[in-house]
Amino acid sequence: MLTNKQIVVGITGGIAAYKSIELIRLLKTAGAEVRVVLTPAAEAFVTPLTLQAISGNGVSTSLLDPQAELAMGHIELAKWADFVVIAPASADFLARLRLGMGNDLLSTLCLATSAPILLAPAMNQQMYKQQAVQENLQVLAERGVHLIGPNSGFQACGDVGKGRMSEPTEILAAVLQTLPKNRSLDQLSVTITAGPTQEAIDPVRYISNHSSGKMGFAIAEAFAEQGAKVTLIAGPVNLSSSSAIERIDVVSAQEMAQQAVKFAQQNDLFIGCAAVADYRVAEVAEQKIKKTDENNELTLRLIKNPDIIATVANLSENRPFVVGFAAETEKVEAYAKSKLQRKNLDVICANDVSSGQVFGKDHNALHLFWQNGEKKLPLADKQHLAQQLVAEIVALYQQKQGELNQSF
Ligand code: PMT
Repeated sequence: MLTNKQIVVGITGGIAAYKSIELIRLLKTAGAEVRVVLTPAAEAFVTPLTLQAISGNGVSTSLLDPQAELAMGHIELAKWADFVVIAPASADFLARLRLGMGNDLLSTLCLATSAPILLAPAMNQQMYKQQAVQENLQVLAERGVHLIGPNSGFQACGDVGKGRMSEPTEILAAVLQTLPKNRSLDQLSVTITAGPTQEAIDPVRYISNHSSGKMGFAIAEAFAEQGAKVTLIAGPVNLSSSSAIERIDVVSAQEMAQQAVKFAQQNDLFIGCAAVADYRVAEVAEQKIKKTDENNELTLRLIKNPDIIATVANLSENRPFVVGFAAETEKVEAYAKSKLQRKNLDVICANDVSSGQVFGKDHNALHLFWQNGEKKLPLADKQHLAQQLVAEIVALYQQKQGELNQSF
């Protein structure tokens, strides 16, 4: 989410400074490079050594430190930053920022940067209420500074009220919200299936598989983030999806098939990431099947479920561009290529699941095959993998559209 983003985290003097360590960790996990600037007062609460270890970069503390200036001067640091996030921002720092003072490294950096500045104020509730503080905040907000929080609650000093620094996750969310939105796919619509299906045996039992829906949901989010209209047809999973996504929850393969074929005809792309049960129980018992003393064996007769993606790929009208997945434990490439042909797909994503580290896990790797080409997407967390996959699918879709237009 923050890959290639460079963030200066400024820490001012306040007990909430300890939460900045978690904030830096979150920013780094989201892909950002982080450099920390401490005010002299902040050094009383957190040490440069801890922050250096957590950020992986040297920590700057002084405006007039020749050694630090040698590594990266304060103007260079101000230009380097894509964002300046100050957490906690003390009442003193707010006042100095409002006045445009440059009497320490952090305030000078704020004057010298053109990057967005985000402030997470933190102070005693009575201090926060003061007219001077409120005026400072108002003026800073009017100048375009992004204010995050503060929250209400118990304070370290024993008071209860507004002034607690926002939680690191809230600050991360605020940083993400200031990212410029790439709406390059807003002309595109896509249907995605995700998760497992459950095939009933009787009212209390079913046949299913280990799919968690994580891969399919990540693909849906990656499309939605870029403005595409997304319909996500989800089997039974424990995942939430963003409000930009139209989500249809189903249970069985037959229900998934019904919804998938309907939406596939309305949308440009169809991506079958669901682990659909190939077979269902022929006669679902109306009552719970009872164990008996006589029978040591129980036979369930299974019949084939509809092949959803093959049905979509063979639509005679309004056929979308169709991308399938092939989860294989052996002969991955051969089986994937055979599914590409047999199911009449445009692209197949071969998914080697032999390690047992794909279903339900956070990471995955894919090998894409299409008529005249292939591409490997190396191991990454499912969110990053999905972003790369979306880029590949869109490029191949556009290529096909171009070829179709030329043939008319
Ligand atoms: O959900 P996660 O825990 O994140 O795991 C992700 C995943 C492993 C489930 C996913 O990446 C994946 O590989 N999905 C496809 C799983 C699968 O069932 O593959 P398959 O080889 O059995 O099916 C081939 C293709 O046909 C798939 O696109 C499948 O959606 C589709 N299919 C299969 C059977 C059927 N009756 N109808 C179908 O549409």
